Amino acid sequence: MSTPVLVAVAWPYANAEIHVGNITGAYLPADIVARYHRLKGNRVLMVSGTDSHGTPVTLRADAEGKPVEEVYKRFHESFLDLFQKCGLTYDLFTTTHTENHFKVAQSVFLALLKNGYLYTETRPQWYSPALNRFLPDRYIEGTCYLCGYEHARSDQCDKCGNVLEPEKLLNPRSKVDGSTPELRETEHYYLDLSKLEPEVARFLRERQHYWRETVSRQTLGQIESEGLKSRPITRDLDWGIPVPVQGWEGKCLYVWFEAVIGYLSAPVEWANLHGLGDVWKDWWVNPESRTIYFIGKDNIFFHAAWWPAQLLGMGETFMEIFTGEKGQKLVLPYDVPANQFMNLEGDKISGSRNWAVWGHDFLSRYDPDPLRYYLTVNMPEMRDTDWDWEDFYKRNNDELVATWGNLANRVLSFAVKHFEGKVPDPGPLTALDEDILRRVEAGFESVSAELEAVHLRNALGTAMALATEVNRYLDQTAPWKEIKTDRQAAARAIYTALRCIDSLSILLSPFLPFSSEKLHQYFGYEKPLFGKQATRTVQDSLGEHTVLLYDPDDASGRWEPSQLQAGQPLQAPQPLFKKLDASIVEEERARLHAQRKS
Ligand code: MF3
Ligand code: ZN
Repeated sequence: MSTPVLVAVAWPYANAEIHVGNITGAYLPADIVARYHRLKGNRVLMVSGTDSHGTPVTLRADAEGKPVEEVYKRFHESFLDLFQKCGLTYDLFTTTHTENHFKVAQSVFLALLKNGYLYTETRPQWYSPALNRFLPDRYIEGTCYLCGYEHARSDQCDKCGNVLEPEKLLNPRSKVDGSTPELRETEHYYLDLSKLEPEVARFLRERQHYWRETVSRQTLGQIESEGLKSRPITRDLDWGIPVPVQGWEGKCLYVWFEAVIGYLSAPVEWANLHGLGDVWKDWWVNPESRTIYFIGKDNIFFHAAWWPAQLLGMGETFMEIFTGEKGQKLVLPYDVPANQFMNLEGDKISGSRNWAVWGHDFLSRYDPDPLRYYLTVNMPEMRDTDWDWEDFYKRNNDELVATWGNLANRVLSFAVKHFEGKVPDPGPLTALDEDILRRVEAGFESVSAELEAVHLRNALGTAMALATEVNRYLDQTAPWKEIKTDRQAAARAIYTALRCIDSLSILLSPFLPFSSEKLHQYFGYEKPLFGKQATRTVQDSLGEHTVLLYDPDDASGRWEPSQLQAGQPLQAPQPLFKKLDASIVEEERARLHAQRKS
C-alpha cells in the first residue's frame, strides 16, 4: 500500500552559508529517507525552503548597504545550487518570502486567534535609537545584575548561567554597533502555550515509545520542569509577514512562528505549481499520512513542542479559514528524528570563526557521494560526532573505494571482457551461489527496517557488510582463475556477483545516488533510478522567486532484488569513486587553519 510521506526538512537561515554539520544534521538524512520511500513506492513529498525573514538577515543587509531582498536571494540561490550538487531531491525548495506562505501563515494566526490561543500584552523592550529599530534580546549585552559579569547577553548570562530578565540588564550596549539602547513599551501577540501544555504533553507521551530518546526526553523534561511558557509571536520589524490585524501595521509575525508553517505552505505551493489543486491534503489532512521532520538538536523545541502546539491550537479552524471546509484537522508530527551536532577536528563548527567545511568549497574539490558516505557513517544520530580529515580519507579509500567501488568495477569489467559484454549464462547454481544471493536479497528487509526507524548509520553499515560478503564470495569462487580452467564455473560466479551488485546498487542508492545511477547504466538499464531536479522562477505579488523542483518523470528504481537475466548487455564501467592521496589530509588541515579567524 502506498503511504503518503511528508519529508519535512529544516529551513536554512538566509544569512549564512551551509556547512557539513548542517548537511549531516538535517538535509542529508531527509534525502536518504525520501529516496528510500520513493523506491518503496510511497508517495513522498520532500519540502523546505529558505528561512528568509527575521532580524539577522535585516542587520546583514544594513551592514552591506543592500536591500534585504537582495541579500536573502543571494543565499537562497546559493542553497539551490548546493542542494542540486549534493543530490538533495526536494520536491519543492522554496522560500518563506512568497505570497502563498504569507497567506497560509496569516490563516494560521487567524485560526489561533479565533480559537482563543492568542492574547496581547505590552512590555518594555530594548530599542536602538541609532539603528532605529527594536533589537532582539540576544543583540543586547551588558552587566549581569546577578553576578556582575560584564559581557552578559540581556537574556542569559554565560558566567553564572542564569536566564535573565532582559530589561534588568545593567549598562546595556548594542552588540551591533556598541551604541546605548533604551527601553520602550511595545505591544505584542502571545501564543498561550500554557493553555496548550496538557495536549502537547499528551502528544509527546503517545509517541515516546518510538521517538529518539534525545528528542522526547528533552522536550518532556522541559515541559515537566518549567512548563510551556507563553511566548510573543509578533515583532517590531518591517521585514517579514504582516500581522493580519488592523492597527498592527509595522509589526510582523515572529520568524519562528511563521517559518515552521512552511511545512504546511510548501505542499500548498507545490500543488499549485503542478496544477494539482488541493492534493496537498493527502499529506496534511489524512490520518494515514506520515510527517517526518528532519532537524538539528537546536531546533527540537520548535518542532516537538511549539509547532505541535500551533497545530493543536488550530484544530479544525485552519481549514475552515483557508479552504472553507469543515471537520478537517491537520496531522501532528509522526516523528522528529533530530540529530545531534557534528564538530570539526575536535572543535565546535563556527561560521563566525570560519571553522567549518563549507558545502560549496568541499564540492569544488571532491564528489558528492564520498561526502554523503562520510556524513552518513559519521552521522550524529545519538551523540555529537567529529569530522576528521584523516578519517574521511581512510573511509573513502578503505571502504567506499576498496569494499564497494572496486567490487562493482572488477566484476563488471571482467564480464565485459570475458563474456562478450553480456551477463553470462550461469547454468545451474551451486549452494554457495544461492547462499550469497539469499543473503544479499535479505538486505531488502534488514536495510529497510533500519531506514524505517531512521537509523541511517546502521542502514548503510548493513548494506556495506553485504558488499564485504560478496567480496568474500568472489575470493572463494575466484572467477579470475577459473576462467582459464573452468569457464562455466567462472560464468556462474560472475553471474551471481553481478546480480548481487545490481541489488547492492539499489540498497546503496538512497545514500550514494550518483554512483548507483551510473552503475545502473553500466548494467544496461535504460531508465534512471531516480527523477531529475530543475529550478523554475515564479512570479507573485511579492516579486520573483526561484524554486527547486523534483521531477519523478521516468524514475524506475524499485526497492526489490535484482532480476538480472543472462544475456543482458553491459557497458564497460568507469571507476565509481576516486582513490584519494594521503596528502589531502595535511592539505585540508592546513587550509582549515589558514582560513580560521579568532
Ligand atoms: N532556520 C532554522 C535553522 O537553520 C530552522 C528553521 S526550521 C523551520 O536553524 F521550520 F522553522 F523553518
Ligand atoms: Zn551572571
